[in-house]
Amino acid sequence: MKNPDNLVRVGGVGTGRIFQHAHLRTYPRLWDRARLVGFYDVNRARAQDARDKYVTMLEDWATANPLAAESARANIAELRVFDSLNALLEYVDLIDVCTHAKGRMETAIKALEKGVNAMVEKPMARTWIEADRACRVAAAHPNVYLALNDDNVYDPKYRAVHDLLLQGVIGNVQTLTAIRGSRLNATSVLKSQASALDNGGGCLMDYGSHGLAGAWYALGTHLKPVKVDAVQIAVLFRNRVLEGDPYVMEVDDNARIKILFEDPQTGRWVTMFLETTWCGGHIGLDKEKNGGQNGGYLYLTGDQGVMNATERTKIVTTQWDGGESTALLKEYEGETISMAHEVEIMVDCVRNKRPPQIDVRYGAEVIAMVESAYLSALKKRPVTLDEFKEYARGFVKKYGDNEQAEEALLSELLAPYKAKE
Ligand SMILES: NC(=O)c1ccc[n+]([C@@H]2O[C@H](COP(=O)([O-])OP(=O)(O)OC[C@H]3O[C@@H](n4cnc5c(N)ncnc54)[C@H](O)[C@@H]3O)[C@@H](O)[C@H]2O)c1
Repeated sequence: MKNPDNLVRVGGVGTGRIFQHAHLRTYPRLWDRARLVGFYDVNRARAQDARDKYVTMLEDWATANPLAAESARANIAELRVFDSLNALLEYVDLIDVCTHAKGRMETAIKALEKGVNAMVEKPMARTWIEADRACRVAAAHPNVYLALNDDNVYDPKYRAVHDLLLQGVIGNVQTLTAIRGSRLNATSVLKSQASALDNGGGCLMDYGSHGLAGAWYALGTHLKPVKVDAVQIAVLFRNRVLEGDPYVMEVDDNARIKILFEDPQTGRWVTMFLETTWCGGHIGLDKEKNGGQNGGYLYLTGDQGVMNATERTKIVTTQWDGGESTALLKEYEGETISMAHEVEIMVDCVRNKRPPQIDVRYGAEVIAMVESAYLSALKKRPVTLDEFKEYARGFVKKYGDNEQAEEALLSELLAPYKAKE
């Protein structure tokens, strides 16, 4: 680490909405392990704004926690806004990357090459090509780590489902059905997320990557995603208002996909059916369903019973023999706990030189599932992840391992969703 005091120095990169509203507040309570000290954004004013907000947050923290007051004051003295990523990387041990998907892997790769650890917001990357490139760079730099910060994985409900499944409460899992997304009138969809080139896809890359990362973790990371079938990927509402402006959607806003997860030890598989959406969930005949992180539709069947994890405050398990049990869940405000855990776990990994479990390879597989679904829609048949990867490597062979290959891949995969001229 850059300082002898064994505190991980952290730098924020891309200090916009999610960084300021969700990540900043996770740092003060890590005061005996880490210090957020640097800020970099291509828009300097945003970095300055994040720094100023953090000063206020540290002052409030010092007042509320007298034992940590001296450390908070020392932290304020270390705060700096940087004009370049390279300068920030000289100053910190770990970066917290909250840029748009475009530019995220480039940032993380520069960090690894300079011996700095990185954790990146979801989706891991804009394309599997750049995620795969980052996997190779990470493998060549084993002493620094690259983690995926998909807070769905750290959500207390997904963790509770994971633990209950491990206890065998419904036996071997056969199916998992989930909805992840927002309603049509939500204001959370940004223009950058609805841009094929900035985000690498539409709702499937946005909420779909969240749902896949969280549900795969819940089922168990020993399972291997093998095959994807795009049941339907569509633009249901082409004309919308995004960030207050009229906007013509040229990426998917509703996708329903199936994924086959195989257990390599036993050959058994689990089928996941995921609806991901920017216009409400529609699985089943009932009224529109919630796709929120902790209150979203999540239902599993096993060979000994079923698990309904749809409610925010409880998970109900019913066994075929008639037994029923309820696990009560504590309610947390929004994503506070999940975002705090993802940061805290990575800080501990860096301090203890322990590689993160939810790493770049995990994130790259999630991107491969998303892009396999787009390829499946294009080919109108199920596609294996291996077939998709060969297809993606074809672009690298043709254009080189570069942005041209990434954009050619995106242009082909996302062509069906463009508005007709
Ligand atoms: N985990 C979640 O629940 C969650 C919620 C919202 C957003 N997100 C993800 O976070 C990302 C950012 O979303 P946001 O709402 O904060 O967007 P935003 O536009 O408010 O902020 C992104 C910031 O990154 C900066 N930026 C872009 N490219 C950069 C680069 N190469 N280097 C440095 N700075 C750069 C922009 O100037 C901007 O300030 C999105 O990809 C989104 O998927 C995750």
